[in-house]
Amino acid sequence: MRTQVVIIGGGPSGLLLGQLLHRQGIEAVVLERKTRDYVLGRIRAGVLETGLVKLMEEAGVAERLHREGFVHDGTEIACDGEMFHVDFRKLTGTPVIVYGQTEVTRDLYDARADAGAQTEFEVDHVVIHDADSDHPYVTFDQNGTARRIDCDFIAGCDGFHGVSRQSIPLSVRREYEKTYPFGWLGVLSETPPVHDELIYANSPRGFALSSMRNAHLSRYYIQCALSDHPEDWTDKAFWQELKRRIPDEIAERLETGPTIEKSIAPLRSFVTEPMRWGRLFLCGDAAHIVPPTGAKGLNTAASDVHYLYHALVQHYRDKDDEGIDRYSERALLRVWKAERFSWWFSGLLHRYPDQSPFDLKMQQADLSFLRDNEAQQRAFAENYVGLPY
Ligand code: FAD
Ligand code: DHB
Repeated sequence: MRTQVVIIGGGPSGLLLGQLLHRQGIEAVVLERKTRDYVLGRIRAGVLETGLVKLMEEAGVAERLHREGFVHDGTEIACDGEMFHVDFRKLTGTPVIVYGQTEVTRDLYDARADAGAQTEFEVDHVVIHDADSDHPYVTFDQNGTARRIDCDFIAGCDGFHGVSRQSIPLSVRREYEKTYPFGWLGVLSETPPVHDELIYANSPRGFALSSMRNAHLSRYYIQCALSDHPEDWTDKAFWQELKRRIPDEIAERLETGPTIEKSIAPLRSFVTEPMRWGRLFLCGDAAHIVPPTGAKGLNTAASDVHYLYHALVQHYRDKDDEGIDRYSERALLRVWKAERFSWWFSGLLHRYPDQSPFDLKMQQADLSFLRDNEAQQRAFAENYVGLPY
């Protein structure tokens, strides 16, 4: 068969791109390795920049997001048992929206099904062919049958472990990576959030984050050792450790209960360049990873989708390839700024095993500068709510 765009990966990047293209009359087939339920079972990001919200609106899938999402005008940062507030609305005029990645993905899958757009689940052995020619195609196996789709373009939206990035020859590809000597242990619990805004905490025992999904569902994270396993952490041990890392007045209010999900994610900064090779474009986690501090992963995937969507519309509607030719450069300019912010914010809040007394003093000075200096708060807020596309 033949289509205009093959999208590899049915995560948020691939689905959002597919829906935006569909609204412009551009046909795309999404290939997803897993089942829909499996993709919807992955608990990930929770904070949406307004740029992503606008793309959801343009894709015609923002109705539930606006009804159920929480508008957050600021955030709390805790250090040494005290908290200070950063007011996004006052400093930038823009809030963020708390609405889970799972819900974003569900809304996009529902819209895709309503539109009758083609999604192929449980595909295996996806291979990209002739991406550097004018006649690319993708082959894969499904239910024991070998299949082939010819296309104009391929969007590699298949996450960090996908095939798309690996299909770019090593002679062309350049990778930049930093790993961190700790992970995040995250839990989801059917308890009311401890506070009406997120609390990012730097404590002598390590980082902690209090977040939420809705009025009855909370999301908490603590910094943990990379050698830890989720099953090492009983619910009791998790709550006890969280309470020790957040200010006492917050810990006293914390409602604990059985957790319904518990997982550990390592922290990594990673960028691959270029993000385009011939007719193959990388989008989202396929091209870059940020440590989760500051919630930039999903939001940076969305800015790639924005650039690629406009490039493809320009190609098909205006017969102009300027957007395609400049996709990698435009996307990377914003990606590196999100990388910088996530790296800096991670450094501000975590305890490092090899942190010297001097390093600790620098971290404390950085935190008190952020607390006391409005220009620094504005720079923080501009990055947190999302730099312009
Ligand atoms: P993905 O969501 O990874 O989607 C890629 C899709 O491609 C998947 O559905 C996968 O099954 C499919 N796929 C992979 N290989 C193939 C193949 N060969 N063929 C076909 N399909 C394939 N960000 C935040 O901002 N805050 C967070 O708290 C946060 N927590 C995270 C926790 C974890 C464990 C992880 C892994 C990421 C987290 N992120 C977080 C990052 C955020 O979730 C990602 O940036 C976001 O999911 C990127 O979307 P994506 O569509 O580019 O990639
Ligand atoms: C969430 C995750 C983050 O990494 C973050 O910075 C804020 C919120 C969350 O999952 O709710």
